[in-house]
Amino acid sequence: MLDRTPGETLRAALERTLRDAILAGVLREGVRLPSSRGLAASLGVSRGVATEAYSQLAAQGFLVIRPRAVPVVAPALVPPPRVARAPDQQEPTPRFDLTPTTPDVMLFPLGPWLTTAQRVARRAGVAALDYGDPRGEHTLREALANHLGRTRGVIADPDQIIVVQGTAQGVDLLLRMLSKRGATRVAVEDPSHTTQHERVRAYGLEVRPQPVDGAGMVTEGLDADAVLVTPAHQFPMGCVLSGERRRQLLAWARRNGSLIVEDDYDSEFRYDREAVRAMQGLAPAQVVHLGTVSKTLAPALRLGWFIAPDELADEARNTKRLTDDFSPALDQLTLAEFLNQGHYDRHIRRARAVYRRRRDALVEALGRHLPELAVEGVAAGVHVLILLPPGLDDIAIAAEAARAKIRVAPLSAFRIEPSEIGGLVIGYGRLHESAVDLAARALANIVRARL
Ligand SMILES: Cc1ncc(COP(=O)(O)O)c(C=O)c1O
Repeated sequence: MLDRTPGETLRAALERTLRDAILAGVLREGVRLPSSRGLAASLGVSRGVATEAYSQLAAQGFLVIRPRAVPVVAPALVPPPRVARAPDQQEPTPRFDLTPTTPDVMLFPLGPWLTTAQRVARRAGVAALDYGDPRGEHTLREALANHLGRTRGVIADPDQIIVVQGTAQGVDLLLRMLSKRGATRVAVEDPSHTTQHERVRAYGLEVRPQPVDGAGMVTEGLDADAVLVTPAHQFPMGCVLSGERRRQLLAWARRNGSLIVEDDYDSEFRYDREAVRAMQGLAPAQVVHLGTVSKTLAPALRLGWFIAPDELADEARNTKRLTDDFSPALDQLTLAEFLNQGHYDRHIRRARAVYRRRRDALVEALGRHLPELAVEGVAAGVHVLILLPPGLDDIAIAAEAARAKIRVAPLSAFRIEPSEIGGLVIGYGRLHESAVDLAARALANIVRARL
């Protein structure tokens, strides 16, 4: 319906409405408008009113009208004022991409994934295209319960599992629930993935840094409503939470009624032995377990799992429902089939062998080109860490590496409290074996110049 001001004719109201929309940029240059017949029918006015309004606007230069074509919005006579925006920071493509958080997406098993996706979509029927359970597809939750029980020692009923859009959404749901319950402080490992600090702060919660040493996160001095921790492979230090620390952490959580949030982001990739089992299996009532396919398959799938203690399961389900109803169903069904048919295990075995070779080659090359600095961390995941001597500025070194087209992360970027000890967090997920030596040498030259 057209809004008419008192005394305004229908034609004038239509002309004004269209002109305002063009001036406001709602109808942009080149937009095709309905034919006068179509416009008249949709507004319930006579065709003459629509034709006249269009002709007026064409005469004023707002529209271009050609025979046997619909009217089109003309190029602006006076360009609208532009809001100044910083240009998109497009980093040049690096020669060596040593990003520590990304897997090699070239390894993604595209063929089997597409075949599986097509098969499950055909078989699923129309129900899979409708609104679904906020927790996710039951078949996937069942497949995950079996897979995680077998490979990670996770104890979960499919009803406690919520399929989420990556660890990111798992952490987000948890923080929403904590805020609602009146929590104020969340402990995080220092250093740890920066987005975790940002997320905690974004909910108005206080970030409580917990230092990390060779045995993982220090448990002394913990004072928070929940703690985010990477027990199987600390990011970015690369250590494993020791048995003693695990026991201390669980005892602390029981004593204080606090939650442990276990970020199990890359446990599938341990190269020297089987990864330490998940903490969730030791204390399912104290631990929220978060997992993801971002490292094993591809970050772009945005598929992960949130395993809630019984006490939180209903609230977690409701929080997911209020956030985005549920995660895309066809991808979930594909992943379920991938797990059930053994494709997932096969792919992990293959990727593990590739990453292991890349890690071995990188450790060896760094030892050769930079023998004065030790490579830290257990043989796992897709990154290693080298610590720099005190006083060396890792941010400046990473910036210099960037100028030499080497993308590498400074350890300081992940810290909450400043530290004298800098380092370089070097990812080998995307570093083909044939490029390892060149990359290590190029990086070593930059570091050596400052030693
Ligand atoms: C510590 C940590 N947790 C989780 C993830 C994965 O996050 P998401 O599942 O949201 O992609 C990453 C990826 O780099 C990570 O470094």
